Amino acid sequence: MRRGSILALIGIGTLAGGMATAVAVLLPWLPEDASKEAGRIDFVFWFTVGICIMIFALVVAVLLYSILNFRAKPDDDSDGPPIHGHTGLEIVWTLIPTILVTSIGIVSAIVLGRNDALGKNVLHVNVTAQQFAWSFQYPEAKNLTTGVLRLPVGRSVLLSFTALDVIHSFWVPQFGQKEDTVPGLHTHLHITPTKTGTFPVICTELCGLGHATMRTEAIVMTPAAFNKWLKGQTAATTSPNPTVSGAAVFKNNPCGSCHTLAAAGASGKIGPDLDKLPQWAKQAKQPLEQFIRTSITNPNAYTQPGFPKNVMPPFSSLPKAQLDALVQYLIQSSKKG
Ligand code: CUA
Repeated sequence: MRRGSILALIGIGTLAGGMATAVAVLLPWLPEDASKEAGRIDFVFWFTVGICIMIFALVVAVLLYSILNFRAKPDDDSDGPPIHGHTGLEIVWTLIPTILVTSIGIVSAIVLGRNDALGKNVLHVNVTAQQFAWSFQYPEAKNLTTGVLRLPVGRSVLLSFTALDVIHSFWVPQFGQKEDTVPGLHTHLHITPTKTGTFPVICTELCGLGHATMRTEAIVMTPAAFNKWLKGQTAATTSPNPTVSGAAVFKNNPCGSCHTLAAAGASGKIGPDLDKLPQWAKQAKQPLEQFIRTSITNPNAYTQPGFPKNVMPPFSSLPKAQLDALVQYLIQSSKKG
């Protein structure tokens, strides 16, 4: 091969590689990393992208060079020379992809192994998925249950999933992984948050009418703030005379994603309008307080006409103090509405 041809190939390859690198690096393809695991997964991503860019540059260089130099003249109808096989070339184009694919496999296996390895002092959180809500239970805090996931930064967290009805999938983009929740199976996800902040928790498996509303938040706090919160919550739910705010219970649970309640600024349309609770209770021929209480703990006992059964999840595990506060809050705000 002439020296000029080699230089042309290198030039085209460098240009193509540079353009592909610019597209890869300058556009924000990935969400910000907020867990150690996400950082490792991103490394596998960029390792693979790097290989792809090299192959892309090589293919574009050979392709463009061939188009420019070896294309047939307009009136040339003759066949090309009969070339059959080239053992050296075949070995090269088998060997190089084998090495590349194997190296991606090895890097991925190392990352998978590290991501699954629990750290010391693991925080266990039981996550329940149901149409259309997430709830989070902390066994180390007397099974405190919340609708928002709170985690301390820097600590190894093992999420254990239970699905009560259909398949859902847990996803916090900044944590880098998705995990399906499957009825009858116990799935797990290990994460080690690295940044404080508020991140979205998204259901990423089509699970029914309210799938798009099946969202909540993951709040990553400093360990001191997390422990303070955990202690405060545990005290509030176990002390005999807790002052629980019904508005806070409403906000901590996913009520607002399906229901409208002006006082809480909620505008969900999946379930009945809670501003009209007195009217619904009359329709159901039940006293307002009893109607609200039953509708929360055993929603299938009576379903509002025009709304399907089995959509509202039963909030039967809500501690009594929180349930009482929520019922009073709904009575007061719906009477205003
Ligand atoms: Cu749960 Cu989609």
